[in-house]
Order: sequence, then structure tokens, then C-alpha cells
Amino acid sequence: MSTISLDFVSDSAGHSAADVTVVGAVSTKDGPRLHAAPGFESLEEVLTQLGVTGSPDSFARVILPDAPSTVVAVIGIGREVTPETLRAAAGSAVRQLAGTASVRLALGLSAHAEVVAVAEGAAIGAYSYTREKGLSEPKTAVESVTIVAPEPLSDDEAERALETARAVHLVRDLGNTSASELTPEVFADAAVDAASELPIDVTVWDVPKLEAGGFGGILGVGRGSVHGPRLVKLEYAPDGATSHIALVGKGITFDTGGLSLKPANGMMGMKYDMLGAATALATITAAARIGIKTRMTAWLCLAENMPSGSATRPGDVLKMYGGRTVEVTNTDAEGRLVMADGLAVASEEQPDLIVDVATLTGAAVIALGKRYTGVMGNDERASDVVALADSIGEKFWRMPLPSELRANLDSDVADLVNANLSRREGGMLLAGHFLAEFVGTREGSDEQISWVHLDIAGPGDNGSATYGYNGKGATGVTVRTLLALAEQQAGA
Ligand code: BES
Ligand code: ZN
Ligand code: ZN
Repeated sequence: MSTISLDFVSDSAGHSAADVTVVGAVSTKDGPRLHAAPGFESLEEVLTQLGVTGSPDSFARVILPDAPSTVVAVIGIGREVTPETLRAAAGSAVRQLAGTASVRLALGLSAHAEVVAVAEGAAIGAYSYTREKGLSEPKTAVESVTIVAPEPLSDDEAERALETARAVHLVRDLGNTSASELTPEVFADAAVDAASELPIDVTVWDVPKLEAGGFGGILGVGRGSVHGPRLVKLEYAPDGATSHIALVGKGITFDTGGLSLKPANGMMGMKYDMLGAATALATITAAARIGIKTRMTAWLCLAENMPSGSATRPGDVLKMYGGRTVEVTNTDAEGRLVMADGLAVASEEQPDLIVDVATLTGAAVIALGKRYTGVMGNDERASDVVALADSIGEKFWRMPLPSELRANLDSDVADLVNANLSRREGGMLLAGHFLAEFVGTREGSDEQISWVHLDIAGPGDNGSATYGYNGKGATGVTVRTLLALAEQQAGA
């Protein structure tokens, strides 16, 4: 995790003490053009020769002949200048400048929302994962960013940007850590650590406690591993909160598929199968640091899915939290099993809204690609969350839960199967249906608690593609939207 210092200056012209000054270029039908960069006009004619197209992430460093000691970098903004494109441009520039200590962003900002977006993008982009580098010299993240802006952000606004970045970086650090270093027990300790000194209560269920509590889903998935499963509950209940959000996160620290073993190619990247739990943890700790007036409870469902002599077999029946039974037809559909326990126990507290986050299905990656979060839910809140994500520049897409698919979960021996081997259509949606079965009803009514499901199997990690403020590996996607949701719920 890295924390940058953020400063604001109003003087856009001239050169500064920063190691690199960044200006923006937009792409027009006549080629790249600088965007409001007084003092740097001489660059405009050579943008094409520099390889700057103005499209997002296009980037070049150059030395001005009249100021040879100043390095200037040009970052592409795209066709339009909006808070979203500026956030991505600032993030991309700071990310691509890793190894440089101080950066000045002269991106021609005018509106307040642009300054907020650039601060956020720069802070999130200032990340590099160096924890497991051995003898090589890793490039370290940018340490200090000066933003040229007509007005500085208030201290609260700047702090919010930094806390958001800190949360995104926590997700990335946990996600990028190799699975051998992040077992369920270590993850639970990291949660205790992250919440220490914050007004957050933490409860950890180890294996005996999970057995006593009847958490058959989490236990069934975790029993093949020498590293036992855990359930972690984090509670943040600020004075004056009138609304309660429960977050449930999938925390499979490694997903081999279990006895329904994944092929070699499908197993690479499965260290990221805990990103939902990391997101829930990062969101609640950031909410507490910022002081958002919404009660939040995060449930981290942690297990390692391994094949072994003690692993759950295809055909075994698990008794889930709350008493429903599930015939495990495929041990690789393990996320829904741990999440079922989490959703059921979260429902008992009757929160106003349950949001779950999970790298749940390969089908989501096939359907939506690597940048869109799949959103399902049981009422209009799902669409509200999509609209909120849209308004702050995260890409969410609402998916249906078609009622005719529900029959694909019928079991001959138990209440449900966890996967249907002969009906593969709509895999993301069928997983959503499975989760929906475990969302509780409102007290004294048949109506379900409002529930929104976020499938981040695609955008949770980048593979080796990079864009905007996202480098290789874990991205931290959905943290920004979940924080905005908590604020919205507080009436902020
Ligand atoms: N963790 C995977 C989903 C996944 C796949 C995440 C690719 C990120 C990238 C999940 O546990 C899984 O394996 N799901 C199976 C379900 C199937 C057996 C019904 C899948 O999607 O193939
Ligand atoms: Zn799996
Ligand atoms: Zn999984």
C-alpha cells in the first residue's frame, strides 16, 4: 500500500520543482491536440511524432529545448474531456510514471468535479506491488502529486480521495499476494489488523466455531485444505446512522476447483478468488476512516478450495447455515456455497440492503469481458447501484434473473444442486439464482430483504492488460461505488 501526498497550485504556466510535469492531449478528427496547456504550445506540432495519439493511456516523455532540466509527459485523455476521462488520464499518467518521486499534473482543469476526479485518479494510480520482489529493483509508486487547479480541494475532499485510494490499494495488496502467503487464517488476521484503531468490532469464526454454528457451506468448501476456513464479521455502527448495509464477500484464497479440478490454464489467476472479501473489508474500513454515517456490517467468507482426501466429493450433500441442503454436483462452484452461508447469516440482522461481491463465475467473464461488473438483484436497488456506478465512472451492467432458469437448480436428493452439469446456459444468472435462495425475508413478511449481487470475475483483476489507474493484477473495482453507496444511504 502506498500513500501519496496531494497538493494543489493555481499557477498553470512555468516549470515546477516536480520531477515530471504532465500535460493532457485530446484526440480530434485532425489528430492529437494539447488540452489547455499554456507554456507547452511548442509540443503541439510534434505530438504525432512523439507517438501521442490523444487516445486514453497513450503516453510519452519529452524534454523541452528551452528547459532541458524539466521532463514533460503527455497523457492521452480521449475524445472528450469529462471528470471520468480526466480521472483515467491522471491515473494512467501517475501509474506510467512509477519510479518518479514527484509529479505535477497540469491537465487544464476548470470544474470542481474535475479536480476531485483527478485527485482520486492520481491517488489510485500511485500503486506498485513490490511485496514479493526479491533481488530486483522494483519501480516504486509516485510519492507526491501536485495538481494544477483553479481551486484546491477542501481538506475533507482531499482526505476522501486518499482514503478511497488506500482502500483500493488494500484490495490490490491482498489480491496480488500469492495464495501461499494469504491463507484464510492470515486473511482473518489482516482483517483484524485493518480494523484495529478504527471504531469497528471484529469477530472471527474458526473451524470449531463454524461447526458449532452450522456453517456447512464454508466448512464444506474449506475441508480439503490444510489451511482451515474462517468467517469474519466486521461491524461499524456510527452514532446517528439511520440505515444499515451488509456486505458479503467471497474470499476463496485459492480456487483449484477442488476434486472437480480446474485445468492448468483455468487455475492461473485463482489467487484472485478472494477479491470480494478484500473489497468488503476495504470498503468498511474506508467508511469508518472517512466517518460515513451509515451502519455497515461486512461478512468475509474465507476458505481455500483444494482437492485432497478430506475434500468434499461431487455428490456430497452439505447442510448450509439456516438448514437448507445442497447437493454438490461440482466442487468448482464453491463461491456460491460460502456466500450462501454469508448471505443467510447477514440476513438475520435485517439490514436495509445486502450487497454481495464475488469473483463468482467464468460465465461473467465470457458474457461481459474484463471491464464490466455483472449486477443482479431482487428489486430496483440493483438498477440504482448501476446508475450510481455510472455517475462516478465505474462500469456496471445489470443482468436478469430469468425465472425459467431456477428449475436448473432442482436436486433429486437435496433442496438444491450447486451447479447443473448438463445445462450450462446463463451460468452467471444461475449462480445469481442460487445466491438469491439464501437471502432472507423481512421480519413479519414474505418479501425478501433488498439484495444486490456484484460478479467481479472479469474486472477484479486485469491479467496483464493495464488501463487508466489500473496496473497489472488486482484492480480494486467496486470499492468506489460501494463507498458512494454508503454515502448515498447516509443521505450525504
Ligand atoms: N472462481 C471461479 C470463477 C472465475 C472464473 C473467476 C474465471 C475469475 C475468472 C468460480 O469458483 C468457478 O470456478 N465457477 C465455475 C462454476 C461452474 C462449475 C458452474 C465456472 O464459472 O466455471
Ligand atoms: Zn471455482
Ligand atoms: Zn471460485
